[in-house]
Amino acid sequence: MKESDILAKNDQMNYIKRSSELLKNNEERSGKKLTASVITFGCQMNARDSEKLAGILVSAGFELLEDTEDADFVLYNTCTVRDNANQKLYGHLGEALSRKKKNPDMMVAVCGCLPQEPSALEKLKKSYSFVDLIFGTHNLYAFPEYLCRLLAGERHIFEIVDHTDNIVEDLPVLRKYPFKSGVNIMFGCNNFCTYCIVPHVRGRERSRDSSDILEEIKKLSASGVKEVMLLGQNVNSYGNSLSGEISFPELLKRVCDIDGIQRVRFMTSHPKDLSEDLIRTIKNNDKICRHLHLPLQSGSTKVLKEMNRRYTKEQYVDLALHIKDEIPEIALTTDIMVGFPGETAGDVDDTIDVIETVKYDNAFTFIYSKRMGTPAAVREDQVPPDLVKISFDRVLKCVQETAKEQSLRWQGQILDALVEEENDSLEGYVTGRLSNNMIVHFPASSSLIGNIVPVRLEECRGFYYMGSEVK
Ligand code: SAH
Ligand code: SF4
Ligand code: F3S
Repeated sequence: MKESDILAKNDQMNYIKRSSELLKNNEERSGKKLTASVITFGCQMNARDSEKLAGILVSAGFELLEDTEDADFVLYNTCTVRDNANQKLYGHLGEALSRKKKNPDMMVAVCGCLPQEPSALEKLKKSYSFVDLIFGTHNLYAFPEYLCRLLAGERHIFEIVDHTDNIVEDLPVLRKYPFKSGVNIMFGCNNFCTYCIVPHVRGRERSRDSSDILEEIKKLSASGVKEVMLLGQNVNSYGNSLSGEISFPELLKRVCDIDGIQRVRFMTSHPKDLSEDLIRTIKNNDKICRHLHLPLQSGSTKVLKEMNRRYTKEQYVDLALHIKDEIPEIALTTDIMVGFPGETAGDVDDTIDVIETVKYDNAFTFIYSKRMGTPAAVREDQVPPDLVKISFDRVLKCVQETAKEQSLRWQGQILDALVEEENDSLEGYVTGRLSNNMIVHFPASSSLIGNIVPVRLEECRGFYYMGSEVK
């Protein structure tokens, strides 16, 4: 960590102490224990940020309520990648207002990606003026300071900055699962896909020092973590923003060498930077999970070029098939977008062709959503919604059929599952995750949670399995 980051960290730790004193005063005044809740809207990186925010709230003395908005302090950690994420927040805020009317002590805060977008920020300030605190992605580490001001009675705290060079390490974190954890290895994105808001709201790519990452994972392991997921918008370009830093495959190897770490995942790999070295590293290292998320977006070389993805249909297919050839037991998943401006039925045929050739184990399909400030948003050839719907249904049908067929290939095998939770709908069952990211439900006691156990995959039910523990 550089000196300014260490100073920033010390400052924030002092703010946490001050917040806890202020919180005690507020609790005495209101005669009750104050509760807090963090609601997450976005991707794994957003979820990891929420764990940091929750850690700060708990360190300050709040009782944390899980997934409930009945708390005295509600923090919405937002996403703005597609318009439906924005609409979801506005729905939640509408309900928060009616709760706030009943509970005058209630504080409402909005943070994350959405306020980084100027038009969304304006809307928040204008139409949701009851929100007490708004901050963005670059100054998340300064949450203790904002919390302190809020607890001291200040309202309408709007702190949005448009970039940061700071990477503040080691603030408190409250993990959702004791046995697995996300680990940021980089922040931001430099790729500027022409449809995407992420580089605009998360800023330029910044990698963390590998020594800080490895140190964090050692501590996680010592506290019982068995599985880590290395997080970044494009993990394959890890280290590019630091001189003399190790490559992503080398980082993976070093993470695997940490005692106690039994599984390593990562997300997301941009196809343009996926190296032979990475494929070899996965192949030669059993701790690296047999799952690769390789976003396609479109199968049409013309559309890919206009998206600024920097690969062609053929390059993508060659890469995907090569990976499957080298590591046959790997599960490939992807993201596909339908309705990018200018997309024709022929372009969608290309996308379907790639799905049928590569045969994904699962795919997330999205309808293109216009994001203000991105080059694609100002194009005049936006595809009419009725045509997008037809294309979307075609793609979805193809994805579902191939994924179902792919899922069947594990039938009858015995694979290791990390038991993650009790099954909420089947009594006496637990839910585990396989190395290939598939889910298996099987009868077992909840005392197995956090353990890796062999499970026989007995019955494929579309995208998950029913199984039994092999003792
Ligand atoms: N960095 C990752 C993607 C992060 S965003 C990558 O490049 O692979 C997750 C997914 O959201 C993207 O893969 C894309 O399919 C989808 N997405 C991004 N912007 C979108 C938009 N404007 N409309 C619809 N889907 C979008
Ligand atoms: Fe968005 Fe492209 Fe960056 Fe992924 S790589 S976050 S899709 S700009
Ligand atoms: Fe993630 Fe959404 Fe932000 S996808 S990076 S939370 S815009």
